[in-house]
Amino acid sequence: MRPTPEQPIGIFDSGIGGLTVAHAIRTELPQENIIYFGDTAHLPYGDKSEAAIQAYSVKIADALLKKGCKVIVIACNSASSAAYELLKEYARHIKIINVIDPMIELVANRFANKHIGLIGTKRTVQSGVYARKIEELNEGITLHSLATPLLAPMIEEGFFDNKISHEIIAQYLAEPELQNIEALILACTHYPLIKSEINDYYNNQMTILDSSQVVAVALRKYLDEEKLLNSSGGKQHEFLVSDYTDSFEASTRIFFQKTVHLERYPLWS
Ligand code: DGL
Repeated sequence: MRPTPEQPIGIFDSGIGGLTVAHAIRTELPQENIIYFGDTAHLPYGDKSEAAIQAYSVKIADALLKKGCKVIVIACNSASSAAYELLKEYARHIKIINVIDPMIELVANRFANKHIGLIGTKRTVQSGVYARKIEELNEGITLHSLATPLLAPMIEEGFFDNKISHEIIAQYLAEPELQNIEALILACTHYPLIKSEINDYYNNQMTILDSSQVVAVALRKYLDEEKLLNSSGGKQHEFLVSDYTDSFEASTRIFFQKTVHLERYPLWS
């Protein structure tokens, strides 16, 4: 059955990272109802196997479909790299949007013949999906990727903007892989939360690319083309978590500026 405009947009990530995308979507599409799923029981995704992330993603897609979502945004690079193709097959009747393709499009338009760095989780970097898609563009772009596995758990704990996070970020960014680059892709949706620290490291002299905005724009374009934009202005935001954590609730408040109610939604019972 064809979805209707009033149905909500489903968004998921392992934890708070996808809230950076949800926030951009809310800003771009203020009339939309949003259901956010944080798979806090299984985070971090970045060090899980492809098969595990696929299993979690299918369960989450099921939950979002049951809630009647008209589109699902995989607001996670690790899950986009591991489970996008599978979810497209699994939930055929609705659109699945990942966070990788809109970034590839942006890079294609702006960085032909340049050297670009990328930081992300082990799952994302090892999947080689960015490297493959950039190679396919044939625009002479050289990608230099580095897995930065400490960052997502650190951010999830709210442990940033302090001396130790500066030090960890500086150590990663000083690695040989990331020298002589002209832009840096934040290939993890948690990393916009440390964007100012990354900017400080580079004295604001590096172009930092984060996908939240481009994903929101891609989503708007799709909804517009399919006449699925919600004009009735429901604006309900629902937050589901596979396990309750204080840090998730606190971060949700930072992004959505009001008391949020977290609904515990175990994926296996
Ligand atoms: N925010 C996610 C990503 O974009 C997942 C990070 C994690 O859970 O390891 O990859």
